[in-house]
Amino acid sequence: MARQFFVGGNFKMNGTKESVTKIVESLNAADLPANVSVVIAPPAPYISLAVEKNTQKTVEISAQNVYTKASGAYTGEISANQVLDLGATWTLTGHSERRTLIKESDEFIAEKTKFALEQGLSVILCIGETLEERKADVTLQICARQLDAVSKIVSDWSKIVVAYEPVWAIGTGLAATPEDAQETHKGIREHLAKTIGAEQAEKVQILYGGSVNGKNAVEFKDKVDVDGFLVGGASLKPEFVDIIKSRL
Ligand code: 13P
Repeated sequence: MARQFFVGGNFKMNGTKESVTKIVESLNAADLPANVSVVIAPPAPYISLAVEKNTQKTVEISAQNVYTKASGAYTGEISANQVLDLGATWTLTGHSERRTLIKESDEFIAEKTKFALEQGLSVILCIGETLEERKADVTLQICARQLDAVSKIVSDWSKIVVAYEPVWAIGTGLAATPEDAQETHKGIREHLAKTIGAEQAEKVQILYGGSVNGKNAVEFKDKVDVDGFLVGGASLKPEFVDIIKSRL
């Protein structure tokens, strides 16, 4: 079964009204393939702007983070329901920058994922190992642990896309090789087959993230378990369109 090619753009904490408008307008003007799903995640203050400016049917807007509750006394948190109210349809959860800098636990991330799905958002669930973990040869155990926290409390994975983002490859210019990414993605899918069942595991799109750019994206073309990318830095640049078109 063919899984649809999927490209996410995570703007992280970058941009202004002007630059976000420019990025969305350049996507509007691009001749994007009809069979590629594109999801862009601007900073929360610009979600509304991105939703309003976007005219591409294949482009959807995402939050970068949401909380585990709809509303209440949670100063500074982002509500999945408010994200939906703005017209966004996705959120990221578990990005390594939140796991490491904000110290979010596997369990907290799993709860956010569950709550976001229950409210009606689709979720890009980010996982991946640090350099130390890679050196210790525990990449798949780490990914399994991060996934298991979610599969323990979420049984329907039809609205989840997994993004494998090795921490050592993020923002470093050192992307994983297509062979390494394929091997890890295959391991992730095999693990998911054991926990959520082979049928669901076969359908889950697994994205690679970490220093993907307009040049190297095409090198992953024949990797059967690499179903797309989650792009950071390059999603702010015109080359993002080249990444979206890298499977043509
Ligand atoms: P870079 O593409 O900048 O390495 O970032 C990847 C990432 O963290 C996307 O979520």
